[in-house]
Amino acid sequence: MPGLVIVGAQWGDEGKGKVTDLLAERAEAIVRFQGGNNAGHTIVRDGEEFKFHLIPSGILYPDKACVIGNGVVLDPRILLGEIDGLRRRGVDMNNLKISANAHLIMPYHVLLDTAGELKLGKLSLGTTRRGIGPCYADKALRLGIRVQDLLDEKILRAKIRTALASKQQALRELSVQRRKLRKEAGEGGVAEGAIEDAPDPRIDLHTMTEEHVNFGHRLEPHIADTSRLCWDVLDAGKTVIFEGAQATLLDLDHGTYPFVTSSNPIAGAATVGAGIGPTDIDEVWGVAKAYATRVGAGPFPTELEDATGRHMLEKGHEYGTTTGRERRCGWMDLVALRYAVRLNRMSSLAITKLDVLSGLETLRVAVRYRSREGALLDTFPYHQSILHSATPEYEELPGFGADLRECRGADDLPAEARRYLDYIADFVGVPIRLVGVGPGRDQVVWLND
Ligand code: IMP
Repeated sequence: MPGLVIVGAQWGDEGKGKVTDLLAERAEAIVRFQGGNNAGHTIVRDGEEFKFHLIPSGILYPDKACVIGNGVVLDPRILLGEIDGLRRRGVDMNNLKISANAHLIMPYHVLLDTAGELKLGKLSLGTTRRGIGPCYADKALRLGIRVQDLLDEKILRAKIRTALASKQQALRELSVQRRKLRKEAGEGGVAEGAIEDAPDPRIDLHTMTEEHVNFGHRLEPHIADTSRLCWDVLDAGKTVIFEGAQATLLDLDHGTYPFVTSSNPIAGAATVGAGIGPTDIDEVWGVAKAYATRVGAGPFPTELEDATGRHMLEKGHEYGTTTGRERRCGWMDLVALRYAVRLNRMSSLAITKLDVLSGLETLRVAVRYRSREGALLDTFPYHQSILHSATPEYEELPGFGADLRECRGADDLPAEARRYLDYIADFVGVPIRLVGVGPGRDQVVWLND
């Protein structure tokens, strides 16, 4: 399995970090290829919890290269915070490599993300407000600042100046909007208005340049030609894991646009985001929860706003790693999962958090949708209006009462749990190789291995 991609099969937060951590044992390098610190992975190792936003999940292995690929957008302040935090906990950071071509999330990107959401009002997307969209937009506009620019103060200053010029209007609008919101909320007087009118020190050209030159000094030992690093490992016949962030239904091209992220989390994007060829990929693992969750706005046909949804939220601790927001919960959607399987051409599935479903008398899985006009839809509709108004039709399967957290082999699972997994695998035509039954690293059941 030299080139193995791990992707989210739903709307994110499927537990890709844990699956990556487990498969990384057999790999030489672990590479992130898109997204930024909008992602959040939690890994539990020997009872200790580690939360990452930017650093690939493989960092806990001291002998493996951990790569932030060119397709990632990185906020240097956040990255340095993660590096310092891990060092304090005794994690060796020498193997962290950062692509010189990755783009930087600058302070103005974060402000513009908020400005965009405020402007949309009720129509807002519910972004993580980490500056992801504005940073990728600048990349496409060729106004982006790259990691390599941190190493040359003159270039850095010139590029920041050019990038800022086109944003003044939007940033001015943001401070006006903020003042209006404060006034509406009955806060703030003349003095606060005066502060808002002053230039924001976070986006002052000289402050930003100085600060980022300093970031550059600290990141320099990690900056590398990461594509070449991947080629060397692959050419030696060793395994590279390409770790996706977010998930298929949040894909900029194939997800539920515009309620998506600004990158391509599907497997094909690993080639562009890491600088490898399509034939370097041998396997694609999709990770799906045993039910479904979504954070932020956008269509979610199987969403539950009842006691069962509450059960999933509470038992599954469904609160965002990055923003702490409550996740929306619902039944497993097999129409959407089959779409994700095909888009990524998955070769294996990992189903996580099966333990969360125990205690539910009946389990439901969506097997088709019905449109507002009454038409039956077996495939994921490409037209957003159809998807927004579609209602799912379910297959019912018996639930299980047993606690699964101690199960370690297929035979330990109750017959109803096995039937649930078999139904999913048969429906989407992909074998399930791994099942999560708790947050711990050892709380897994390997199947078809
Ligand atoms: P952005 O990626 O911050 O621009 O947010 C766009 C959409 O993607 C919002 O609905 C976010 O909630 C969602 N999103 C971004 N990253 C993640 C993630 O790691 N897990 C789940 N949802 C995410």
